[in-house]
Amino acid sequence: MCSIIGYFGKENAAPIIVKGLKRMEYRGYDSVGVATESDHQIKLRKGIGKVNEVNSKIQLDILPGKVGIGHTRWATHGKVTDVNAHPHSSNSGRIAIVHNGIIENFEELKKQLKNEGYDFKSDTDSEIIANLIQKYYEKTQDIKETILKTVAKIKGHYAFVAMFENGQLAAARFHEPLIIGVGQNEFFLSSDVLGFIEYTDNVIYMENGNFVILDRDKFQIMGFDGKQAKYEIVKVSKEFCDAYKGDYAHFTLKEIYEQHETVLKAGERTLEAIEKTVQCIKQAKNIYITGSGTSYNAVLVAKQMLSRYTRIKAEPIIASEIQFIPHSIEENSIMIAISQSGESADVLEVVKIAKLAKCKTIAIVNLLTSSLARESDIVIGMNCGPEIGVAATKSFTTQLVIIYKIIQKLSDNIVDIDFAKISKLISEILKNPTKIQRIANEIKDISDIYILGRGMHYPIAIEAALKLKELTYIHAEGIPGGELKHGPLALMDSNVFVIIINPNDSTYSDMLTSAREIKVRGAKIIGISDIESDIYDFWVELPKSDEIAYPISEIIPIQLLAYYAALAKNTDPDYPRNLAKSVTVK
Ligand code: AGP
Repeated sequence: MCSIIGYFGKENAAPIIVKGLKRMEYRGYDSVGVATESDHQIKLRKGIGKVNEVNSKIQLDILPGKVGIGHTRWATHGKVTDVNAHPHSSNSGRIAIVHNGIIENFEELKKQLKNEGYDFKSDTDSEIIANLIQKYYEKTQDIKETILKTVAKIKGHYAFVAMFENGQLAAARFHEPLIIGVGQNEFFLSSDVLGFIEYTDNVIYMENGNFVILDRDKFQIMGFDGKQAKYEIVKVSKEFCDAYKGDYAHFTLKEIYEQHETVLKAGERTLEAIEKTVQCIKQAKNIYITGSGTSYNAVLVAKQMLSRYTRIKAEPIIASEIQFIPHSIEENSIMIAISQSGESADVLEVVKIAKLAKCKTIAIVNLLTSSLARESDIVIGMNCGPEIGVAATKSFTTQLVIIYKIIQKLSDNIVDIDFAKISKLISEILKNPTKIQRIANEIKDISDIYILGRGMHYPIAIEAALKLKELTYIHAEGIPGGELKHGPLALMDSNVFVIIINPNDSTYSDMLTSAREIKVRGAKIIGISDIESDIYDFWVELPKSDEIAYPISEIIPIQLLAYYAALAKNTDPDYPRNLAKSVTVK
């Protein structure tokens, strides 16, 4: 949930680190800091805010030295303050660290270290790593021994980089990502290849329970048992370097507008994996599908579609709930995990449990270098390119297309889906956003909005609510249309806006009835439909389409609505408050 980076090489470290942090800001963006080593001294600057803001205030990128570390934070322990920002230095000031993850036993370790005379400036769990390293390094004067003793003490999920006053770097990985970039006489350590991809595409994905020591022109990778570890240098695709906004004001808008292309490219490079998945589904005793947030909403669509179009039953699992539903996974079944990042800790936990139950694991994932991709038996690459905006947009529609492709194959193409037509529908919706901009202005000051959908449109209503919450901070709730009379009708009055997802399919007339019930209670209605009705205060026209295409086309105007309402409210659509793109903590 934070990003960490380290650089060791021939260039000035700070500008490279600042650039890398900017690229990885999606992982956390409440504060930022850089530390470098120069003339055997550690210099450190950090502050609250996004990378560019802090950099323009305190010039992180002019710190001197060819070795450095950096961090963007998503607060877990301790408020968002300058002091809690990383890097943290040890009491002696001779060691600085950056950390991503959670040290579960930090309170106990802090107490012990305090008894030994160490002071703590921050409220973070991370600062104990700096002081533990100082303690062991002062005793052993040996970096390897120091790291081994430190990792033996700390419990939790973490990746950290430590910088020593002599200019050496050491980094350890335990259930949080850590990647080494191997350049020409320079090395990078990073939570994501995006941190350094423009300098090298030669990377080592560090295994869990390994650490590395970088010293001048060489590096040494070892396991937490102290033995040399095996590793492989692999090439990564530079397409992930392409994380620029282009002419768009925000990544989120760019990603919304890319969807007419991404639905065509979805899963394109992994058709064989789709085929294998189909075979597994046909033979499976039980089918479980899991995900978090938006990806879980795609799971809900998958469940409905599988049942409707292929009569196959699948059980959805909210990844974060797995620990409270023991015995939920039967042996020798299949687990399909959907995740854009492939790093959501909750999803990885479900996959771990599924593997213990001897299930075949299938990942539908965008980042093919992610932990999920590496830990799954079959990997379907989403292929929608980097998604930087924290609110998932194009990854959601891509996930739906992959689900459709699986359904199409399961039905031996009896379920006929015209993806080119879906792409055209999206282009048509995106062509003229003026009306949606107008509606965004209408809703910007409201405090509650409800989104109604029935059947396969209900998961879309939930996804719509998530988009509106994330981007506008308006309380938004997705409700199955038929449930209105069982409670939510009590909330309807003239202060409320309701979005009715109402395409011309089997749900249409029931939804219109719900709309009428709402209308007479004074609430304002935004109808998303291919049929105009005077019940709607605002009509967002959906192009006519095949029934199966509606879930994809109807989410697009709501993504736009959430985006433009965020602009109208002056919030940052790319980086909503309190959130992060990859949720690598449980
Ligand atoms: C979506 O808009 C959210 N930012 C969030 O719910 C996200 O979908 C969730 O954290 C899961 O992420 P993943 O797909 O990378 O696993």
